[in-house]
Amino acid sequence: MNFPDRIETDRLLLRPFTLADVDDVFAYARDPEWSRFLRLLPRPYLRVHAEQFVARQLLADRSARPTWAVVVDEAVVGGIGLRADAPQRRAELGYSIARDQWGRGLCTEGARAVVEAAFIANPELLRIHARADADNGASQRVMTKIGMVKEGVFRLGRVERGEAFDEAWYAILRRDWEG
Ligand SMILES: CC(C)(COP(=O)(O)OP(=O)(O)OC[C@H]1O[C@@H](n2cnc3c(N)ncnc32)[C@H](O)[C@@H]1OP(=O)(O)O)[C@@H](O)C(=O)NCCC(=O)NCCS
Repeated sequence: MNFPDRIETDRLLLRPFTLADVDDVFAYARDPEWSRFLRLLPRPYLRVHAEQFVARQLLADRSARPTWAVVVDEAVVGGIGLRADAPQRRAELGYSIARDQWGRGLCTEGARAVVEAAFIANPELLRIHARADADNGASQRVMTKIGMVKEGVFRLGRVERGEAFDEAWYAILRRDWEG
């Protein structure tokens, strides 16, 4: 699929991660409260983990797994990513924002712009879904605010690091987005 490298919104610049972003990523990702629902991340989260994260984004195939650094006032305050499944004409959305920026609507603004860019650039794309721990209220609120519909909860549907939890699934169809 095709995805633009740069997306601009009222307050945000979304652009590919660069090696110069490691310190900004480390600053927010080392916060255990930020990663509470991101169980697969290493703990403690060391600088080398931020380096590895950025390196993975640099090496990723942007036609299948694009990520965008969320830039506010020249600082990286989060990331938004898609995983495209071209044969199934769908993609999965994921996101995170630094804790000191929570509640300002930044994730909603960025995620909405990514969904729009993905639908515009890929006329064959039918749906974009997202999933979250059923206890992750903020993440599900973002899904709702960008027009996703809750499709259900997979009870004890995921196990990460040996811990089973309920997972809520949301999606927006192209036809929902087109209104
Ligand atoms: C989820 C996350 C990206 C949201 O970022 P954000 O920029 O604060 O999101 P927004 O400000 O656009 O919207 C957050 C909404 O959630 C609401 N919210 C916050 N905590 C909540 C909770 N515990 N339960 C329900 N809603 C909650 C906010 O009030 C806001 O809704 P509102 O605009 O109606 O008031 C951020 O909390 C985060 O990075 N969390 C850690 C990583 C993570 O969990 N990522 C998602 C994995 S699925």
